[in-house]
Amino acid sequence: MCGIVGYVGKQDAWPIIYEGLKRLEYRGYDSAGIAIVDAQGDIQVRKTVGKVSGLDEAATTGHPQGSVGLGHTRWATHGRPSHDNAHPHIDCQQRIAVVHNGIVENYLELKQWLTGAGHVFYSETDTEVLTHLVEEGMEQGLSFQDAFRSMGGMVKGSQAISAVLQGEDSEICALRLGHAGGIVVAQADGQAIIGSDLPALLPLLQAESNTGQVGFLETGEMVVVTLDGVEYQDLDGNPIVKQPRLVTQEEVLVDKGGYQHFMLKEIMEQPQAVASAMRERINFDTRRVDLPDFPLSTEEIAKLDRVMLIGCGTSLNAAQVGRHLVERYSGLPAEAESASEFRYRDPFIGPNTLVVSIGQSGETADTVAAMQMVKDKGGKLITICNSEGSQASRIADGSFYMRSGIEIGVASTKTFVASLTILNLLAIYLGQSRGTLEPAKFQELVDGLAQLPRLMGELIADSSVYQQMAQEYATFDNFLFLGRGMNSPIASEGALKLKEISYIHAEGYPAGEMKHGPIALIDSAMAIVALAPKDTLYDKVANNIREVKARDGRVLAVLTEGDTQLAADVDHVLYIPEAPEHIIPLLTTVPLQMLAYHIALLRDRDVDQPRNLAKSVTVE
Ligand code: M6R
Repeated sequence: MCGIVGYVGKQDAWPIIYEGLKRLEYRGYDSAGIAIVDAQGDIQVRKTVGKVSGLDEAATTGHPQGSVGLGHTRWATHGRPSHDNAHPHIDCQQRIAVVHNGIVENYLELKQWLTGAGHVFYSETDTEVLTHLVEEGMEQGLSFQDAFRSMGGMVKGSQAISAVLQGEDSEICALRLGHAGGIVVAQADGQAIIGSDLPALLPLLQAESNTGQVGFLETGEMVVVTLDGVEYQDLDGNPIVKQPRLVTQEEVLVDKGGYQHFMLKEIMEQPQAVASAMRERINFDTRRVDLPDFPLSTEEIAKLDRVMLIGCGTSLNAAQVGRHLVERYSGLPAEAESASEFRYRDPFIGPNTLVVSIGQSGETADTVAAMQMVKDKGGKLITICNSEGSQASRIADGSFYMRSGIEIGVASTKTFVASLTILNLLAIYLGQSRGTLEPAKFQELVDGLAQLPRLMGELIADSSVYQQMAQEYATFDNFLFLGRGMNSPIASEGALKLKEISYIHAEGYPAGEMKHGPIALIDSAMAIVALAPKDTLYDKVANNIREVKARDGRVLAVLTEGDTQLAADVDHVLYIPEAPEHIIPLLTTVPLQMLAYHIALLRDRDVDQPRNLAKSVTVE
């Protein structure tokens, strides 16, 4: 959601915080600000509306000098993006600056009380109450740390909060409440950085390897950072001994690798992403899926009576594909639902229900809340996620990491195909364990998966076909993506990619449903992207395509190589290589990602940071 960076040390704090914020910009980018404690001990704040780079202008006369500071890049929840609403928020006496990620659920009540006590508010944010609460505590005679801690005890909701105090011996406090906001901490050579995520810590990780020991705040924990060091406490002020975790270079590095955009780089990384997702999870000698970390015994798997798959956005689309795979290979009834709906409908979860949550970040508020509900109801819970140590991985009984490396582009790409790969492994594993898959069948499925890195590589080898197709379709203002079976959620994913990065209206629809309504929309101004690979539903989709053509719709079809017959009936074609059915959805995904990317380029959109979005949605 929002990104927080704080620095205490001996160096010029501004460039360290500024660079850290730029690396966290994927979390939100509608406004930014930095507060520096200057040589006189005063707090100097600079803010900008828009991206972090706008802070350069805010500091044209030279940035404030000081070796302690706090910065923030925002994704607005309360109050539109504006200078006043940008963080850091300072108190009436300009002694404290506060940054915040999450939502203060009781802010109206607190604001009313603080206003009554004489505090004057200048912003529309919920965050500003935090500043005034710390100020109020200090006015009542509490130390900065105690006032900060007391503020933490008064607010409701899930969030990460950090504050810096003016003065020569300035200090930074940060705390985490609930699941919404992480805080990570690194220290080295008499300096410390706190951040919402690992890339902010880069200056303090080992120069050559970018690895290092990092402290992760748990919910209900606080950290105090001074020049004397870092101290972890609980919210009663008791010291905590925190075991730092060694982070890998992969978790930290943020680099476009020569590509114009992270999204393109991440699309190009998909052959490695699917290979990493399979690594050590397939025994290629026995041609079996091997998941030694699966948290259920064979007996418990045999007793399962239902599988529920949940996620949001792209991860929901992955869940919908997973439903087909699980049902087909494990013989268990499977359903998929958005976590944001699931969490509010009191679903039946029994001891033999297996819930699979999917999420790139493992921090999506709705997904995490839905998982907690499953846990409370006694269901079995596993997660497929990319971020080690995320909330999702802490709540789940078992975690299957995507191992895709950090994904920066707001539009998920490589983590989607990694999810689909793991869902395939999961479905096959359940089938193997329950005996619903004969050895010959699971071996055939495993052989199919083994082809994935090569086939995905073939799809991205030549971008010119996608560029050419983008030229043909970039001027359309309405798109209908059609698919059936496992390609119906892929149609939804194609539409989601297009709308989020190009701002074109696009809908994903089950092709068989078209005649029940959407067909009324079809005319020569409607672009149809139809997924018709050679699978069991091929003939059905081919008929749906012909229904569209009969009504003057313009059709771009994704077909299997060699399909000249259907190619002759449509306007344009993008081909995928011939492949077994269970991996086809991973292949049909790629042309849709590339099409969306190149259309967004032609429309001059901000591909990696599209408007109004954030990479992880850690608020409801
Ligand atoms: O981190 P998650 O996978 O849980 O995130 C869920 C959605 O917010 C995410 O997939 C979103 O839809 C992406 N921007 C899609 O590209």
